[in-house]
Amino acid sequence: MLGRLNHVALAVPDLQAAIRTYEATLGATVSVPQPLPEHGVTVAFVDLPNTRIELLEPLGTASPIAAFLAKNPKGGMHHLCYEVADLATAAAHLARNGARVLGDGRPKIGAHGRPVIFIHPGDMVGTLIELEEV
Ligand code: CO
Repeated sequence: MLGRLNHVALAVPDLQAAIRTYEATLGATVSVPQPLPEHGVTVAFVDLPNTRIELLEPLGTASPIAAFLAKNPKGGMHHLCYEVADLATAAAHLARNGARVLGDGRPKIGAHGRPVIFIHPGDMVGTLIELEEV
């Protein structure tokens, strides 16, 4: 069911500071930050030869990463995103195997303009998992 690793997401308290770390300290190329009000985050992507790192900063008062940053004030790994060919097939497979999809279970449009779902970390060896249809 799983395809490539699409990205690893890091929640960060200060996006400009995180971009400086990746650009200056690590010598990486980072995209221009993009506010996504409907997701409650501002996002920037670090381009790597084999995948991307998604830097997420809270946006607005009800950000879904606010609680994570309250527990991890310096930031940290928030989720992994794997590619799938068909989200409906993947969601049905997850349901048959007892894995909980977050929210109402329906795909939302993610940061790359493609449908995504998130799987409960309690069913995924302690890690929040995003599936993106590509
Ligand atoms: Co993501």
